[in-house]
Amino acid sequence: MSSVKQIGVVGGGQMGSGIAQVAAMHGIDVFLFDVDPRALSKASASVSASIARFVSKAQLSQSEGADALQRLRFTSNLEDFHQADFIIEAIVESEDIKKRLLLQLDKIAKSSAIFGSNTSSISITRLATATSRPHQVIGMHFFNPPPVMKLIEIVRGAQTSDETFAATKALSERLGKKVITSQDFSGFIVNRILMPMINEAFYALYTGVATKEDIDTGMKLGTNHPMGPLQLADFIGLDVCLSIMKVLHAGLGDNKFVPCPLLVQYVDAGRLGKKQGIGVYDYRKDSRSANSLSSRL
Ligand SMILES: NC(=O)c1ccc[n+]([C@@H]2O[C@H](COP(=O)([O-])OP(=O)(O)OC[C@H]3O[C@@H](n4cnc5c(N)ncnc54)[C@H](O)[C@@H]3O)[C@@H](O)[C@H]2O)c1
Repeated sequence: MSSVKQIGVVGGGQMGSGIAQVAAMHGIDVFLFDVDPRALSKASASVSASIARFVSKAQLSQSEGADALQRLRFTSNLEDFHQADFIIEAIVESEDIKKRLLLQLDKIAKSSAIFGSNTSSISITRLATATSRPHQVIGMHFFNPPPVMKLIEIVRGAQTSDETFAATKALSERLGKKVITSQDFSGFIVNRILMPMINEAFYALYTGVATKEDIDTGMKLGTNHPMGPLQLADFIGLDVCLSIMKVLHAGLGDNKFVPCPLLVQYVDAGRLGKKQGIGVYDYRKDSRSANSLSSRL
């Protein structure tokens, strides 16, 4: 495949907006689509703020920042993706919803377009079956936040072609990322190891082993992690963590992957993490009501 000139990103949440920003900052024209217009305006504001931060830290010149913003277009019409060379989906972590989207994209996208999925855990092999081009479907797993994190985990589905793999690797490196390659088993490399650790931190909290602060401080200072597992879960999104644990449990069939009841309860309560203003920790300015809630949990 010749060099990628235009990318379509589906899903303007925390990952999709960041992926679109990275591509625009590396000279690629980008369309960003979301079903929710509020997500698009939020994405537009967060990309502008993030690019302004890059400029203020002199990691990007003023004109490079302005060029990046010009290359990024927000759309509520998926048909705008008909010329995209590469389409990356970063929508909710649901196999059914992702398959429905891929089916739709298969009809809109040109036949040479590659479909990358930013899924954290869902089988690329199964997602690919929703399309007529399974050899052009691949996992392209960015980390949060995409403009800052240096890694892309590429996941080869059972039918992913060598050409698709090579084009995805070349694109990832063009975006300034280091690539690792995983076979298509639930959780791939990083989440296979990270999510059970986060789940175990929830069990430690749930069973009263320690406070959330001590669990996080322990892992930060005792194992040299930049943030504790509970805070990291808040940054990832507790709903995302829960759905990955469910995928690990279903896909690998081992009870060690059963989601902690406290994680389930937080998600049921709408405590989805930093994006919601409250997860394990409270990020809102007025935290009185949340503190009374958290003291009961
Ligand atoms: N949050 C993380 O740290 C992280 C890291 C790596 C990968 N991921 C993966 O990235 C994906 C997105 O995660 P996120 O954290 O950005 O979620 P998010 O909830 O912040 O954003 C998801 C966005 O998708 C949109 N959406 C939902 N259904 C859609 C559809 N059918 N068409 C178009 N848009 C749709 C929603 O409106 C929302 O704006 C998931 O697959 C997740 O597993 C997340």
